[in-house]
Amino acid sequence: MTEPLLAIRGLETAYGAVQVLFGVELDVHPGEIVAVIGPNGAGKSTVIKTVIGLARSSKGSIRFAGEEISRMAPHRIPALGIGYVPQGRIVFARMTVEDNLEMGAFLIGERARRRRAVDAVFAQFPRLHERRAQLAGSLSGGEQQMLAIGRALMLDPRLVILDEPSLGLSPKYVDLIFEQLVDLKRQGRTLLMVEQNAARALELADRGYALELGRNRYSDSGAALLANPEVRRMYLGGAGRA
Ligand SMILES: Nc1ncnc2c1ncn2[C@@H]1O[C@H](COP(=O)(O)OP(=O)(O)O)[C@@H](O)[C@H]1O
Ligand SMILES: [Mg+2]
Repeated sequence: MTEPLLAIRGLETAYGAVQVLFGVELDVHPGEIVAVIGPNGAGKSTVIKTVIGLARSSKGSIRFAGEEISRMAPHRIPALGIGYVPQGRIVFARMTVEDNLEMGAFLIGERARRRRAVDAVFAQFPRLHERRAQLAGSLSGGEQQMLAIGRALMLDPRLVILDEPSLGLSPKYVDLIFEQLVDLKRQGRTLLMVEQNAARALELADRGYALELGRNRYSDSGAALLANPEVRRMYLGGAGRA
C-alpha cells in the first residue's frame, strides 16, 4: 500500500488529569474513506481534536504527509491541507452562504482564486448555489451540514476530517450527506470521519476503527467489520441491520 497520508501511533491524550486516549493507532491512506466508530465517550472526537491541535497529546505521534504535527498550533493546520468539519454543523448563522464559504478561504489572499474555490463548492453542492445569498441560519440542518462541508473544501485539502456528519439530520439528509461523501471520494478526496451511525459509516468506508474507552478494539475493512458478529453486537446494536 501507499504511504499513509495520516499515521497516528501510540496516541495518548488527557483533559487535565483525566486521560481519555490510551495508545490509539490509526492510518489513513490517500483516496480512502476511513470511519472511526464507537459509543459515546469512546474518544472519537478527541482523536480528531488531537490531530487538528485542539487537544494536546502527552505521548505518541501524528504524522501528516510525513511531517510530525502533534505539537503544531491549531491555526497552522488548515494550511497543511487538513479540512475540518466540526460536530454540530457549525456555520456563521448571520452570514450568507457565500460569505460562509469565503470564511473557509481566509488563507487565499488572491480574490480570483477564492472565487474559483467558491464556484467549485457550488458545483459540488448546487443547492448551496441556489441559496448563496441566504443567511446560513435560515438553512435546514442538512443544508447547513453541506455548507460546513463545503467550507472545509475551500482550501482544497488533502484530507477532510468530519466529526459526526450525520448526527441530528433527518433520514433524507443523512442519505444525501453520505452520498456526497462517496462522491467526494470518487473525485479522489481522502476522508476521515467519526460516526455514531456505525452501520452507515462502515457501508461506505474502505476501512474502519472501532474504539472502546480510548483504545483500539477492532480495525478492518468496512465490509469485514460490518460482517463481524462481535462488532455487530457491540457497535451496531445486535445481529440485525442497525
Ligand atoms: N473538553 C473536555 N474536557 C474534559 N473531558 C472531556 C472533554 N472532551 C471530552 N471529554 C471526555 O473525554 C472522553 C471522550 O470524549 P469524546 O472524545 O468526545 O468521545 P466521543 O467523541 O467518542 O463521544 C469522555 O469521557 C468525555 O467526557
Ligand atoms: Mg464525539
